[in-house]
Amino acid sequence: MTANAALLDYLKTRRSVGIGFLKEPGPTADELREILTIGVRVPDHGKFAPWRLILIEGEARAAAGEAIAAIAKKRRPELDEAGLDIERRQFLPAPLTVGVVFSPKPNPKAPELEQLLSAGTVCFNLCNAAFAMGYGASWVTRWFAFDPEAQAALGARGGERFVGFVHIGTPTAVIEDRDRPDIDALVSRYGA
Ligand SMILES: Cc1cc2nc3c(=O)[nH]c(=O)nc-3n(C[C@H](O)[C@H](O)[C@H](O)COP(=O)(O)O)c2cc1C
Repeated sequence: MTANAALLDYLKTRRSVGIGFLKEPGPTADELREILTIGVRVPDHGKFAPWRLILIEGEARAAAGEAIAAIAKKRRPELDEAGLDIERRQFLPAPLTVGVVFSPKPNPKAPELEQLLSAGTVCFNLCNAAFAMGYGASWVTRWFAFDPEAQAALGARGGERFVGFVHIGTPTAVIEDRDRPDIDALVSRYGA
């Protein structure tokens, strides 16, 4: 394998774009297919494909927000209109959100943890594919990824759960980098 300077540069500089900075246009149908294809090109011990993707786009974004808002009201009856509006708008800023569902396939060959990790890499690879095409993206979970009723309302089936919502759109701002971890503080040598 030869060195790939462009890829190295990308890996050293890529960063997420907050949902509030993601606007139209989103990926075209062909681009979306490519993003999704790259997204699931991930390590997957046993080739169980323990994930599904649910696209939230167009008018379905508002419908998903309404569903979330109704459940938010049940959880927090004190929520006022402004609070409910925040929930209704969860999927409105970006033109497209890809919900990544962890769909475990119980099998001794690949313990559930391995399958879960594979689902996480789908989220990150979707971001990478979107970035590589010039779009911005953000991988978030938020409360509804941890609420079984909300997960079901967004399309998760029995035994499944969302591991991320990857919001994708055209960035409206250049995002400053954030502090990155000090590699020396994280690395040690076994036996030293
Ligand atoms: C599993 C996971 C869940 C996340 N959920 C949220 C979230 O709910 N809200 C949020 O503001 N950021 C969330 N983040 C963080 C965003 O992805 C954040 O933009 C990211 O850490 C930026 O990293 P980067 O600049 O290296 O791309 C989450 C990150 C991960 C890995």
